[in-house]
Amino acid sequence: MQGAIHAEGLVKTFGDVRALDGVDLNVPEGTVLGLLGPNGAGKTTTVRVLTTLVRPDSGSAVVAGLDVLKKPNEVRHAIGLSGQFAAVDEYLTGRENLRMVGRLYQMSARDAKTRAGELLERFNLADAADRPAKTYSGGMRRRLDLAAALVVSPPVMFMDEPTTGLDPRNRQQLWEVIEELVAGGTTLLLTTQYLEEADRLAHDIAVVDHGRVIARGTSDQLKARTGGERVEVVVHDREHIPVTEQVLHAFGKGATAVEEHTRKVTVPVSGGAKLLAEVIRELDGRGIEIDDIALRRPTLDDVFISLTGHTAEEAQDRADRAHEADRGQEGAAP
Ligand SMILES: Nc1ncnc2c1ncn2[C@@H]1O[C@H](COP(=O)(O)OP(=O)(O)OP(=O)(O)O)[C@@H](O)[C@H]1O
Ligand SMILES: [Mg+2]
Repeated sequence: MQGAIHAEGLVKTFGDVRALDGVDLNVPEGTVLGLLGPNGAGKTTTVRVLTTLVRPDSGSAVVAGLDVLKKPNEVRHAIGLSGQFAAVDEYLTGRENLRMVGRLYQMSARDAKTRAGELLERFNLADAADRPAKTYSGGMRRRLDLAAALVVSPPVMFMDEPTTGLDPRNRQQLWEVIEELVAGGTTLLLTTQYLEEADRLAHDIAVVDHGRVIARGTSDQLKARTGGERVEVVVHDREHIPVTEQVLHAFGKGATAVEEHTRKVTVPVSGGAKLLAEVIRELDGRGIEIDDIALRRPTLDDVFISLTGHTAEEAQDRADRAHEADRGQEGAAP
């Protein structure tokens, strides 16, 4: 059955970049779809097409029963959007921003005021409510943007990296708000780099890369597909990471993953506890001191690595470095 969000064959190019290369999605009513993918995969572009902000080159999409291309205004009234880059008015206070959104959606002045007050409480912004948004910290701005998306409770919501930049307590609270919304029947498409977030909130997950959906399923289905257990070793000395990687590679049956800052090396294996003992003996024989070693089931991070070839964290690092390199070039230009 066609869901509350349904897209077929979405293609969008920017010059020679094929941002979307045939995206198909279906989100049943009252469920959450988590859209995962490395930087530049096409997540934001997908959200922008579905929320009528960008017109696709080809393909079709229906949101809340309305054709996105034929009825963009009606679609805009049926949805809520919280973007990757907060869309708040800098010069208005937090309270004014929320009241304005309410008025834009034809709420009475009184209802808009009440709703603004509730949301400011809910998102821990009550103390800063009467300061201009330009004085807000990054996390406060993000919370204001999320609150703005919730002024009217639309049947279909889009959230592009809603918890990026939020501290753990605010992230936890937002998750609770989202769970309540969904329990109340809201359909949500959520993009995130926090795989734990997708694991907790999403009924279904779609992994995108290079503008295409490369895998979809529940978190458990994707983990099962990634298969088998992992051996995870934390070495004591950073210098021992490369040789540990070699050893694990020899015992493993797939690509090793290294997390430098935690000195953790991971590899998919088959063979269970017996193999674990062999790995320990081998590392010990090579004089490698181990802080921690474990056999564990795959996580969503493993799914991400095996599907896209790198961790969400590495993808973020790479994007940051590219950004710095760009700035460096600008600086170096005569
Ligand atoms: N307005 C634009 N003009 C030119 N290129 C664009 C534009 N918007 C997106 N792109 C390109 O399209 C591709 C997909 O971008 P998109 O923003 O959808 O990625 P994303 O998955 O949201 O990434 P991130 O995780 O970094 O937010 C990228 O290569 C990006 O540079
Ligand atoms: Mg994005």
